Parts: sequence; structure tokens; C-alpha cells
Amino acid sequence: MKIDLILGLQWGDEGKGKIVDFLTNNYNIIARFQGGPNAGHTLEFDGIKHVLHTIPSGIFHENKINVIGNGVVIDPVIFKEEIEKLKELNVDLSNKLLISRKAHLILPTHRLIDKASELSKGKKKIGSTLKGIGPTYMDKTGRNGLRIGDLELDGWEDKFNTLTNKHLNLINNFNVDIDFDINKLIEEFTNSINFIKSLRFIDSEHYLNESLNNGKKILGEGAQGSLLDIDFGTYPYVTSSNTTAAGACTGLGIAPNKINNVFGIFKAYTTRVGSGPFPTELKDEIGERMAKIGNEFGATTGRPRRCGWLDLVILKHSITVNGVTELIMMKGDVLSGIDRIKVCTKYKYRGETIDYLPYSIEDGNIEPIYEEISGWEEDITKIKSFTDLPKNFKNYINFLEESLNVKIKIVSVGPDRTQTIFV
Ligand code: GDP
Ligand code: IMO
Ligand code: MG
Repeated sequence: MKIDLILGLQWGDEGKGKIVDFLTNNYNIIARFQGGPNAGHTLEFDGIKHVLHTIPSGIFHENKINVIGNGVVIDPVIFKEEIEKLKELNVDLSNKLLISRKAHLILPTHRLIDKASELSKGKKKIGSTLKGIGPTYMDKTGRNGLRIGDLELDGWEDKFNTLTNKHLNLINNFNVDIDFDINKLIEEFTNSINFIKSLRFIDSEHYLNESLNNGKKILGEGAQGSLLDIDFGTYPYVTSSNTTAAGACTGLGIAPNKINNVFGIFKAYTTRVGSGPFPTELKDEIGERMAKIGNEFGATTGRPRRCGWLDLVILKHSITVNGVTELIMMKGDVLSGIDRIKVCTKYKYRGETIDYLPYSIEDGNIEPIYEEISGWEEDITKIKSFTDLPKNFKNYINFLEESLNVKIKIVSVGPDRTQTIFV
């Protein structure tokens, strides 16, 4: 048995949560492989909207196992709140949520370093979610991190204290003004750790590979998007993990030859939250319209998302680095009523026309080249089958499939689980 993956192909918030939840019926296990509570994955069904940050998006299904992989970073304080919210909804987690012992913990001081670092960068700030993601992955690669498995051993408190003291010195060196009460933060952290210790910790790479050997079907859930990948994104305006398919191998301990389908998910247009280059960004009424109709506000921070036309140069880049086998297009409904839809197919870069993502698109040196396609007027949010979709919507799909050379298998026409159509 092999694993399938779901990955965002843009700058995050493509709708991964909705589609993972939708596809969970086909799998036994859902496994998150990277990122942390910087993610906000939204699911809607039965008239209720849920936002998940650390917990995989298969959690609302009965008899499905949800694994938090070793590549994920966990903030115990946020994690505890997330679990308590689910318990209020009577979601029983005891037998279906498993946590890798090798997952790293976000300390309160990681969050403070994130904030101090952003403040010190001024206008050049990354626009981080301030969840401590970068500093936690730095301690992981620097070999200083505290892991879930440490909580089962004596002396984790010593490790925690040493790391915290080191961080406090570091924060002083930033020379920025941030207010915090360290004792309160430590108390909150310790309380959350005591709570988390009641959950099930596993050797996840062993568990997942054994499950595959025993014929179980696994779906790997990515966070963020390929353009936020630490290596292949718009560096330095990226997150601190590999959001691409390779991140599933290192974040779950599953070998590359065990990957089967890679579902690449994208919005029918493009959004980005935080700083950094965005060639097809629209600062006009069409961009505002996308933001309003698409309700484009960050699920984690509430910040408005920047909006723009679909960019096929970045999609091709993402399809290549991930080995995408099937595409899923979200939020087609948001484009209803736009007369002429533009799609960026190439860039003008330093006087030349190119169709790939060059080293740096940072300094406004990119000019998108667009093709125009006729839009559709109809509200498509209640349509249930592909044949009933407007002709021009189908033309849009055909145009994208031909340009990208990958089939679009699912289109989403609204936030609810039921507003999902197989092509
Ligand atoms: P994720 O981080 O990739 O899981 O995506 P987010 O949850 O951050 O953002 C996607 C947003 O779009 C959420 O508010 C979803 O409820 C919403 N959404 C998902 N699919 C659709 C769709 O097809 N149409 C519309 N209008 N909204 C959608
Ligand atoms: P999901 O999983 C959209 C962005 C931040 C910032 C940059 C670095 O919901 O798609 P970080 O906190 O990771 O250090 O921030 O990455 N970012 C996201 N943007 N969706 C996300 O997750 C994101 N996670 C981080 O806005 O620009
Ligand atoms: Mg999101």
C-alpha cells in the first residue's frame, strides 16, 4: 500500500482542510507532516465551521486515525485549546489522535523570539504568524529542541529551563521592546504539558510504515503552500519547513517510492497573507471583490489576504517540485460575475519572456504576461454535477488543464463539504 498526499500549490490557504475532510472517507489514516499552528485549516459541514491548526483534518470522521507527524511543531498551549474546543463538540479524540514522539515543541520563548525578530526587521519583516515557527525549526536543526518524547523521560524540565534561559538572552540582544511575563508564560506552558501527557504518543515512522504494510490507506496532509517552502518558495518570505512532497518523506518517515498520488490544490485565483513578492497581485476593485466574495481573511491571524489573478508560472513550478499527479481547483464560485478573467502564463523578466520561476522575484523585476478568458455570470454554488456547470467555467478548466498538462479531478464551488464536484 502507498500513501497519497494533499499539498497547497500557492501561498497557503488553498482549501486543504476542506478537501482533506472531503477525501477522508477513502483512507484509514490522515497524517499531518509539517508546519505548526501557523496553519489554519477550515472545514464546514452541517452548518458549522471549524478551524484546525495542529490537528489533522480527518478528525471529524468516525473510525479514522489522525497522526501528527514528526515534521510538525506543536505549541502545547494552542494544542490544548484546540482539543478542548473539539471535546466541547463531543469529538472523541482518545483513540483517534496519535502524536509522534519526534515532533518538536514550541516554547513560549520561541514565540517571543519570532516577535522580536520581526520587530527588528522593520519594513523587511516576513509577516510571520508570530507562532514561533521559525525559531522552533531553528532549534530543531540546531539540535537544541525539546521533543514530545522528552516529556516521557525524567529531566525534561531541565532541558526546558536551559533552552528558555538561552532564549531570554537572545531576546535581549534584539534590542526591541516587547512586553511579557515569563513566569506566567511558563505556568501556562507547564499546565498545557500536563494536559498533553494524557494523549497517545507513538513512534510514528514505525506505526505508519507498519500500517502501510498491513494494507492501510494513508493520506498525508500538508500545511502552507509550495511558494512558502523553505527551499523552493519565495525566500526569505517563506515558512521554515519543506511544504513540498519531500517534506512528507522527512515529516512522516515514509520513503519516496511509497508515494502514490500527489493531489495539488489551488484556488481559481491567487492569495497571499504576509509580506513578500506576488507578481499577479491586484490592488484594484477586482482584487477587492475577490477578497470580499472569497472572504479572504487569514484563518489563524484574521489578517486580510492579498488577492490576484491565477499565476500558471508558479503553478507549473509547484507541480514540478511536488510531482503533482492530479489537480483540485477551489473557489471557482468566487470568480462568478467577472466578465474577463486573466491568467498569467509567462513573466517578463529583465527584458526577456520566461515561463519559469527565476531566483528572485523580489524587487519588482517581474511583469506578468496575461491571457484573457471569458468569464461566467451564473452563481455556481448550488451546482452538484460537472455537466451542469456553465460553458465558460468548463472552458476555464480546459484551458488550465492544457496549459498545466495535469488533469483537474475535483472542483470546489463553496466552503461546505457538499459543495464539491468530481470532474
Ligand atoms: P487551508 O489553510 O488550505 O485549509 O485553507 P483555509 O481554510 O485557510 O482557507 C480556505 C478558505 O476558503 C476557508 O475559509 C474555506 O472555508 C473557504 N473555502 C474552501 N473552499 C471554498 C470554495 O470552493 N468556495 C468558497 N467560496 N470558499 C471556500
Ligand atoms: P495554511 O496551512 C497562509 C505565511 C505567513 C508568513 C510566512 C511565514 O493555513 O495554508 P510563519 O508563521 O510560518 O513563520 O510565517 O508564511 N504562512 C501562511 N500563509 N497559510 C498558512 O498556512 C500559512 N502559514 C504561514 O503569513 O507570510
Ligand atoms: Mg489556512
